[in-house]
Formats: sequence, structure tokens, C-alpha cells
Amino acid sequence: MSDTQRHPFLEGLSKHRGAPATILVIFGASGDLTARKLIPALFNLSLDGLLPADFRLIGYGRKPIEDKAFRKAARAAIDEFSRRPIDDQVWKGVESGVYYHDGDYSDPKAFKDLAKRIHKIEKDAGHGFQLVFYVSTPPGVFAPIVENLGKCGLAQHKVQGELAAKVIVEKPFGHDLGSARELNQVIANNFQEKQVYRIDHYLGKETVQNLLVARFANAIFEPLWNREYVDCVQITVAESVGVGSRGGYYDESGALRDMIQNHTMQLLSLIAMEPPVSQDPESIRDEKVKVLKAIQPVELGRSDSSDVIRARYTEGLMGGKRVPGYLSEQGIPADSSTETYAALRLSINNWRWKGVPFYLRSGKRMARRVSEIAIQFKRPPGILFAGDRNLDISSNVLSIQVQPDEGMTLLANSKIPGLETRTQPIKMHFRYATTFGSNTPEAYERLILDAIVGDSTLFIRGDETEASWKLITPILDYWKSAGNHGVSEYAAGSWGPLESERLLWKNQHEWRRIGV
Ligand code: BG6
Repeated sequence: MSDTQRHPFLEGLSKHRGAPATILVIFGASGDLTARKLIPALFNLSLDGLLPADFRLIGYGRKPIEDKAFRKAARAAIDEFSRRPIDDQVWKGVESGVYYHDGDYSDPKAFKDLAKRIHKIEKDAGHGFQLVFYVSTPPGVFAPIVENLGKCGLAQHKVQGELAAKVIVEKPFGHDLGSARELNQVIANNFQEKQVYRIDHYLGKETVQNLLVARFANAIFEPLWNREYVDCVQITVAESVGVGSRGGYYDESGALRDMIQNHTMQLLSLIAMEPPVSQDPESIRDEKVKVLKAIQPVELGRSDSSDVIRARYTEGLMGGKRVPGYLSEQGIPADSSTETYAALRLSINNWRWKGVPFYLRSGKRMARRVSEIAIQFKRPPGILFAGDRNLDISSNVLSIQVQPDEGMTLLANSKIPGLETRTQPIKMHFRYATTFGSNTPEAYERLILDAIVGDSTLFIRGDETEASWKLITPILDYWKSAGNHGVSEYAAGSWGPLESERLLWKNQHEWRRIGV
């Protein structure tokens, strides 16, 4: 499929065409996420004709910048990061409605000025706009921004008597259970839950959205999707990049907070949840919360019984190039105990999953960038083929490649053609690129669009984030108290530490060798 052809993503999006006039305010407008993801997403939406007919963007940041300079920076961001090249005609149409507003995040006066500016835009246009506030700043100022939006009245903005304000909150949503609860409380004091869109960009990925379709629109998987047939579930979110220039943020965070608490737990809840009663956001999120609540607290402590392990990368080879270890990265203190890799063994204490281990792992500087969910089924009884050394009978595995090379593979056993009976595991592949073409819309395109039209299905509810933090926080507390004790190491470019393998051996399992 060529880039100019309509992507299947665009079909069925007619509901988005009637999106109301919208002003999107991005807090953290000069930040990395705005340049890399948000501006390119807005451009790509406009290229597909999906932005509201009357759309304005206000970048809000601390640096004083002129509207003109912000427009120029936005254009440069599209040139550098957009999945499709800039189209001057289309961008000109959007650009004329792009403004910049400078102010401190904790200064009520700056928010009053923002409100004035918004009211002026409405007056000049002769109609009201819904307001979408995108909080994409360092987490320390999330609360002041939300409070100031409440104080200046913008959180209760109305169009024709209807509440017309929404807030999108980026990650990290808190750094533990207590801080997530506090943030939820600050938000609840200023916005109603239906106005709130907590982002986990993994939910915007096509392959992640497909999880519910694969499970509930096919009759063949669901009857097997339980403790009777599933041996274990493995979720891998591996990155080949290191911490790069984000050392300051990352060292305060670590793999457990940065990837497991949010992205990986979201994948787990979609894989393990019960069928929702309907497709509406609340029904789906109710089921996800139930799964999270059913996960048993993890065992901590002694290395032979612990359900979690942590590690950091040391110097190693990536694609033939030597890369530094974590402790030598920019901005990382020499005595850091932050993990760049974490692996967990979780048990879901409910009727469907009792006794089925869920293994989760995520790390930086791993052998390759790959996110995969593998459902490993129990082995067949083997009565027929027992003892035959010609036979290589493997467990069936349904693996879902979240990224890259998005797709699904079913591993089955097959007879090798020939006069003897010999078997070999074979793979049945489905690839998005082959079936639907490449250049799939990015997660942020879908998520921004959904927030504009008011569909919160792919966003995290307040109780959902708390349920996940409830599980993760005791691990963080334990690790903090243990300092550097128990931090394993793995060479950059490897698949992680040996301790991670041991975590699975205890249950006679092993991590899948992805891509082999
Ligand atoms: C972010 C993390 O949430 O996700 C980053 O903060 C990580 O550390 C990124 O690199 C991974 O996202 P993706 O979409 O590239 O898998």
C-alpha cells in the first residue's frame, strides 16, 4: 500500500469527523514528547482530515517564545519525526491556529492570562471551543497545573451550557501508590472522572487494541484461554536503547516504574481480563481492574523464593559497537541502585487463571527491541508419540508481536514430509504489514483523536492506576531498603541476567528465545 492510499485505520472513523471545535493546550510545549510525538501526531491527523474543522493549538511552556518561533519549531519537529513527510498545504491550514503562551506552571496569574487568551479566541471565532489540556510536563508540576486549571475556571469551561473541558495526563502517574492517590485526589477536586484521560501510549498501539478483537471476535481462542489449557503467559517488553540523555529522569524511575507498572501491566490486564459486558469504556475498564485486583502480592526477599528480580546493564556490544554500562551513562550517580531490567512472576488468583504463572520482563539495552506476548499452551498428553526419538513435540504457543514487525504467530507441530514419521514445530504467521500495509498510525494519533471525541476506552481509569501501584509499591519499598544488595547485572546486548532465567526454572519454564 502506498503512503498516499487510505489506511484501513481511517475506515470507520466517521464519528471523528463531527469532532467539535477544539483548542488543545499542551503543557510542556518545548519538551521532548511534544516534538517527537504530539506535534507529528497532530500533523498526521490533519493530513487524514481527522482534526476538528476548527482546531487551535496553544503550546504552554516556561520559556518565553513568540508564536512564530513555536510554529517554526513545530514544523521542524514534523520534518524530523513525522511518519509521513510534511504537506505544506495541509500544515499551513493548521499552522495559522497555532499559538504559544508562556508562563509558570504554578502561577495562577499565568493561567488567568491563558483563560483570557482562550476567551478572546472564542470571541473572534464567534463560537465556543471545547478545551483539551494535555499535561506533558515533568511530573512535579502535574498537580499545580491541574489546580490552576480549576482555580481559573478553565476546568469547568462550558459550551452552550455543557461541560467542555478535558485533561489528558501523561505518565508517570505518581511514583508509588501514595503519590498516585494524591494525584487522583487533586484531579478529582478539579475535574470529574469523565473529563480525565490518563495516557498509557501502549493502549494506542494497533496490536494492543487488537488483543480484545483477537480474543473476543474469534471462537477458537477463548475456550482454551484458561488454566485448563494454558501453561504460562510470557510478556516481554525489551528495548535495545539505553537511557540516553534521560539519565536524570530514569535514575529516579527504573524499569519497574517506567515500563512494568504501566505498559506491561496493561498488556497483562488485556490478556487476562474476562469478556466485558459491552464495548463501552467503563465495562472494559471494570474488567481490567478486576484482574489487577486478583493478582496476588509478590513474594519478596530470599532470592530462591522471590517472585521478582532486578538488574542493570554493564558495558557490552550492540550491533558490533561497544556501549557503556548504566553506571557510566550521563547523569547516573556512581552508587545508583536503579534497575534497568526487571522480571516478575505473577499469579492471578481467580477462577480462570489460578496456577498459571504470568512472567513479565522489561529492560533497556537488551539484544533487540521487541515487545511480545506469548501464550504457551500445555503439552499434549504424548501417549501416541511417547518415547519416539524422531519426534520433536513442542508446546503450542500463540505469540503476539506487539512491535516491531507487528503480527501473530501460532507455533504448532507438524509432520516433516517423508516416508518416516518425523515431526517439527512450524509457525503460522500473520503480519500486519503484509495484510494491511505498513505505515500504521502512531499510538498518539489514535489517543489524541479519542480524547478529542470523548472516547476514554484506551485511557487508564483512576482505580486502575491505583490497583497497579498497589502491587508494585511493596517491591519498590523493598528494593529501596535493600539498596544495591540484590541488583544483578547483564551485559548490554544480551537477553538479561541469569537470575531472570532462574525465576522461570523454578516452575520448569524458560523464557522464549524470541525471533529464533
Ligand atoms: C516510555 C518510557 O513510556 O516508553 C521509555 O518512559 C520507553 O523509557 C518508551 O523507551 C517505550 O515506548 P515504545 O513505544 O518505543 O515501546
